[in-house]
This record gives sequence, C-alpha cells and structure tokens, in this order.
Amino acid sequence: MRQAAGAARPTRRRAICFALLRRRRLGGFLLLSGASLYASFLAGSQAFSPMTILSSVDCWSWRGWCWQRRPSTTAKLDAVASPPQANKLGFLVQFSLAKKVAVVTGSSRGLGRGAALGLAEAGADVALLGRDEQRLAAVKREVAALGQRALVVPTDVTKPAEVDTACKRVLDYFGRVDVLVNNAGVAQVAPLFEIKDEALVAIFNANVFGTFYCCRAFGAHMVAAKRGSVILMASISGMAGEKNLTAYSATKGAVIGFTHALASEWAPSGVRVNAIAPGYFRTDLNRQAIDDATIGPKIVRRIPLRRVGQPEEIGPLVVYLASDASAFMTGQVVVLDGGQLAT
Ligand SMILES: NC(=O)c1ccc[n+]([C@@H]2O[C@H](COP(=O)([O-])OP(=O)(O)OC[C@H]3O[C@@H](n4cnc5c(N)ncnc54)[C@H](OP(=O)(O)O)[C@@H]3O)[C@@H](O)[C@H]2O)c1
Repeated sequence: MRQAAGAARPTRRRAICFALLRRRRLGGFLLLSGASLYASFLAGSQAFSPMTILSSVDCWSWRGWCWQRRPSTTAKLDAVASPPQANKLGFLVQFSLAKKVAVVTGSSRGLGRGAALGLAEAGADVALLGRDEQRLAAVKREVAALGQRALVVPTDVTKPAEVDTACKRVLDYFGRVDVLVNNAGVAQVAPLFEIKDEALVAIFNANVFGTFYCCRAFGAHMVAAKRGSVILMASISGMAGEKNLTAYSATKGAVIGFTHALASEWAPSGVRVNAIAPGYFRTDLNRQAIDDATIGPKIVRRIPLRRVGQPEEIGPLVVYLASDASAFMTGQVVVLDGGQLAT
C-alpha cells in the first residue's frame, strides 16, 4: 500500500509541474498579445495584431492550452482557399500595386495613358507599349515623376512577333508581369456599305487579333506564375447598337466574348480576366465628334451625367481591377459611361 502511494507522488508532481509550465506559456501568450494589441492601437492598423504576428510566424497555432505545430496540409489549403486578409482598419491597402509590374498597350495617349498613370500612382512599375515612341517617352517621364519605373517598348500589337519580343524585353527588364491592360485599339465611323476591306481588316487586327497576341504572350507568364490580372478594353458599342459603328461594335463584342471565355479558362491558374466598357471619353479616338458643334451636344444629351469622361477617370477603375481589391472578380464587363447604357 505504502509503496503504491509513493509511486503515485512523482506522477502528481509531474502533473503540477506540467500545469505550471502551461500557465507560463499562457502568461507569455497574454503578454505577447497585450504588447502587440497596444502596438496595433498605436499604429492604427492590424499589421501588429497577435494573429497577424502568429500567422506571419506561420508554424504555430493556439489550440486549447498549448502551442502545437500546424499540419502543413492545412497551411497549403489556407494558401489556396483563403481570400486576402480582410483588413477592417485599412482596406485601402488592397488597392496597392507596390512591387507589381503592369503592361499597358496603347499607352502613348488617351485611355492607355490614363491607365498607366493610375497604375503608377498606385505603386506599379509600368511597361509602355505602342507605336509612337516619342509620345511613349513623354508618358515615361510622367510615370517617373510619380516615383515609378517605366519601360518604353515600341510595339505594333497587330504583329505577333513584335508582341513576343516586347514580352521578352519586359520580362528581361522587370523580371515579372502582374497586370496586362489590353487597351490598344482603333475605330472607324462609317456606314457598312462604305467600309473598305482594308479598313475592316485593320480594325479587327488591332482590336481583336492584337488582344489575342498580347494575352497569349504576357498571359503565358502569368499563368505559369499562377497570379495576375488581365484588363481588356471593350466598349459600350459592343453591348448596344449604334449606327455607323458596325465594324467597331463587332470587334468590341468579340472582346467581351473573349473576356468571358478566357476568365473561365484561366481562373484555375489564379489569373483574373475582366473588361472595361467605356462610354464616351474625350480622346483622339472621338475628340472630333465630341468637339463638333452639332454632334457634341447630341452625344452629351444621351449621357445622364451630361458630360463625357476624361481619360484620367479610367485610372481608378483600372487600379481596382488590377489589384487585390477585386480578388473575387473575374469574367466581368464593367461599364463606365456616365449612365448612358442604363437609359
Ligand atoms: N475614347 C472612348 O470614348 C472609348 C470608348 C470606348 C472604348 N474605347 C477603347 O479604349 C481604347 C483606347 O482608346 P482611346 O480613346 O484612348 O484611343 P486613342 O486616344 O486613339 O489611343 C489609341 C491608343 O492605341 C494605340 N494603338 C492603336 N493601334 C495600335 C497598334 N496597332 N499597336 C499598338 N498600339 C496601337 C495608340 O498608340 P500609337 O498611336 O502610339 O500606336 C494609342 O495609344 C481603345 O481600345 C478604344 O476602342 C475608347
């Protein structure tokens, strides 16, 4: 009997020691939590919250009273299925494009320039593609003034070999591509019977084939890297009919179909594909019509907000679609038209 009681004593002691040890770990955890909560309060962000610290350590998780190793399979599932960390105190962080590289076709002027400057303002380095080298160089200076790097890559998007070379140059220079804005495009306003075959081919080459070539070249890198955002420039002309725009409307309808199909194709690779459908923006494409004393007021009367868009107004939407702020969005066509299509 006495021997049995003696044998029980060390077991009890061990249990007490273990309990104390556990409380010390609990004390340590509470101390760490308190300190990081205070730091988080001072910093005004969740960057220092205890859970953020723990997840950044990435191998410990709190289970009941003690720390345990998190199974690696759980970590892998988390990485695939978890949305980007919701940050209630600073959700604007999700719009940041810091350390990202964006490629913008047709960025020598108009909406492409507006997109490039918006992306640079959000922190991205930008590759500027187009045919007019001088204008591209001017945009490069504007990007540099925003504190970002820019690379001018003279490219005709209708020539697949030039697009492939451009892609190689961008990857050699920046080492990565996170965003592709397929913006280069042309338009022709003419009744169907007056559209020449060469003009028809030219408009499809730039708006449709150019889109295919650029997505194929830059998308290959994004799909391999399993991340990226592709933004295609459609038009409300691809969604609603307007006379004298048959060729242009057909190309923009094609871009919309392309957006839906490619979004499905690349979603498993983590690459998102969305399109913007602008209404009337005052650029070289339609400046003549907008500034015309007769046609201009007719255009504006069809827009509920009673004005046309300015090229810079494309920037915020491009940044949204390019960034993690739109991480759950793919295969969509976002209309930006002052309400024209809604009436
Ligand atoms: N403005 C609008 O109201 C409006 C409305 C709906 C949709 N969009 C679309 O938005 C996009 C941009 O239009 P925008 O208004 O900014 O027109 P824009 O001022 O005429 O600019 C067109 C851009 O496309 C580039 N480009 C044209 N053909 C090219 C080619 N073969 N290779 C490389 N770059 C080429 C031009 O660059 P280079 O001259 O240097 O080659 C230029 O930078 C187009 O896709 C257009 O269809 C515009």
